[in-house]
Amino acid sequence: MKMIFQGVICVLIALALLNLATGLRAQNAVSNEPREPEMTPSLNLGKMNYEAYCASCHGKTAAGTDKGPTFISKIYHPGHHSDGAFFIAAKRGVRAHHWRFGNMPPVKGVSDTQVQSILLYVRAVQQANGVL
Ligand code: HEC
Repeated sequence: MKMIFQGVICVLIALALLNLATGLRAQNAVSNEPREPEMTPSLNLGKMNYEAYCASCHGKTAAGTDKGPTFISKIYHPGHHSDGAFFIAAKRGVRAHHWRFGNMPPVKGVSDTQVQSILLYVRAVQQANGVL
């Protein structure tokens, strides 16, 4: 009888530890990977352009990399960086002023229509992650 009781306790402890470990993993996933917005055809197009022209520095789902900042930040709220800032950044580049990543060079070959779609995607990502 005592053995069965000890066995049950062991199983319960093991389950509790497992639960704790999965909980911690889930928490990490939230902090490292931004949420994707609910995708629509135009957001998919924006994401494709974003990944082709901007993600190498600004990161997957705008999470940032060691070459450029995340857009999931109050700094890039439209009240601080209007939509126009994105067109100017793509066309003329950006002189480093907020961070220590260095300058952003002009992005070659990206059209205004593509930047418009990128902007739509970035704003949707910001919204999905509580910036807007
Ligand atoms: C080679 C790396 C690189 C690429 C590619 C890149 N960026 Fe940047 N971007 C940066 C860095 C670095 C900064 C931060 C400059 C600072 O404020 O210190 C920046 C800043 C910005 C800003 C803020 C501008 C401001 O006025 O402060 C916008 C908007 C932006 N990028 C948009 C884009 C878009 C849109 C694309 C794709 C079409 C893109 N970036 C591609 C590196 C990059």
